[in-house]
Amino acid sequence: MSVRGFIFCCLLAISIAQDETNNKLFPKDFMFGAATASYQVEGAWDEDGKGENIWDHHIHSSPELIANNDTGDVACDSYHKYKEDVAMLKELGVDFYRFSLSWSRILPTGFVNKVNLPGVTYYQNLIKELKDNGIEPLITIYHWDLPQPLQDIGGWPSEFIVEAFAEYARLCFELFGDNVKYWLTFNEPYQICIGGYGLGYNAPGIKLTGLGDYMCAHHILQAHAKAWHIYDQEFRATQQGQVSITIDTMWYEPASDSEEDLVAAERALQFDFGWYANPIYNSDYPEIMKTRIAERSLAEGFKQSRLPAFTDEEIAYISGTFDYMGVNMYTSMLAAAKDEVPIAEPSYFYDLGIDGYQPDDWESASISTSKITPWGIRKFLNWLKETYNNPAIIVTENGIPDNSSVIDDVKRVRFYRDYLSNVRSAIEDGVNVIGYAAWSLMDNFEWGLGYTQKFGLYHVDFDSINRTRTPKTSAAYYKKVAETHCLVDTCEE
Ligand code: BGC
Repeated sequence: MSVRGFIFCCLLAISIAQDETNNKLFPKDFMFGAATASYQVEGAWDEDGKGENIWDHHIHSSPELIANNDTGDVACDSYHKYKEDVAMLKELGVDFYRFSLSWSRILPTGFVNKVNLPGVTYYQNLIKELKDNGIEPLITIYHWDLPQPLQDIGGWPSEFIVEAFAEYARLCFELFGDNVKYWLTFNEPYQICIGGYGLGYNAPGIKLTGLGDYMCAHHILQAHAKAWHIYDQEFRATQQGQVSITIDTMWYEPASDSEEDLVAAERALQFDFGWYANPIYNSDYPEIMKTRIAERSLAEGFKQSRLPAFTDEEIAYISGTFDYMGVNMYTSMLAAAKDEVPIAEPSYFYDLGIDGYQPDDWESASISTSKITPWGIRKFLNWLKETYNNPAIIVTENGIPDNSSVIDDVKRVRFYRDYLSNVRSAIEDGVNVIGYAAWSLMDNFEWGLGYTQKFGLYHVDFDSINRTRTPKTSAAYYKKVAETHCLVDTCEE
């Protein structure tokens, strides 16, 4: 059956529950999109001059760290099949495609002294194909795949990286910016720093919590700000695009209405999200982080806080470096106060010092323990409005995993309907949400979980050399939503 035939037949089969789903139309100019990231879909890991990145290195040197020893060597083969990807996006009827650039495909050594033309051509072709089909590119400059040579000399915890990233970002604006309206410098700095340099579950796998993660964050914030200023000064006048960063968090709901639990929940939001958002959308790190980390560091015997300090000049330089706000949100957690952790080893989690948990009776995704909490996104969006002075927000990722080859993914349909319903309600609350991207356009390489968890609107057959793509029922539902701006059968204005 053709993609169109499949989508039509499935649409008829979906009964869209009206109960409690917001039945107001999304605003006319609201943008619906779908998202992926370079390492998770491109494959062609060493083709046409691409250099090695930290995920190539991590996986090839320690295959046992990834479920089933899976790799991203081929992934969805989007390097060769990008036209099929764009055809899927066109079929979905989305306004934008969020994808990321592989730094080492453009700059094999990480530095701008050597530009890899086939890599540049690949992205130029992808952007052209999108534009020819009426789809806006929303480009993430960095989604976790640092060139290995830059890690070999220290990676994100080292200061040189700020300038290296800024030069790479400038090159991206120069090469692609005439055709790009929306940029993100980074995807999820929390995951880069906690995952890569704190707990070590992401490449490069360094376990230095309470130290490496804070240093990583310090340079990511400076690198982001520098890239934003470069765009502002050198490109904005001619390219007229918008630059931001995507920050992720769970929603933290106080476990009770006690004052202590309210404080614990707010502290968790400030540690996870405010760590990155406060310097950019307000100014400097959150006070609560500065105070707690300084106190614990001194008690541990350090001579200064493990949280590096920005100078006044740096604080001013970073503050205000956004044109909109990018956020990723998947789930929620209850936050409860707990007794102060005794002074011991440095740890981001001891510094944070809360009890976070997800009750058993919250519904889970069919594969992961991750809980489905649509109400959390509405609360989160309202919190963003209050905490950061009502910025324009794009939800750049939201989605749910399963592990099977189920094409009739009714749970995912329900997930999108319920989360989007809460996004729509947040708009009624006065939150300025201007766009939303489903994670993900297609099943892909899920980092340490390999191919055991699938988030796609499109199924990808990883056993076939063709990496055949097939729309799921959720693709049919999302298409209806993107085209009608309505979550149920009929909507009110
Ligand atoms: C990341 C994606 C990832 C998704 C689902 C986000 O943290 O940006 O790369 O695949 O979550 O786990």
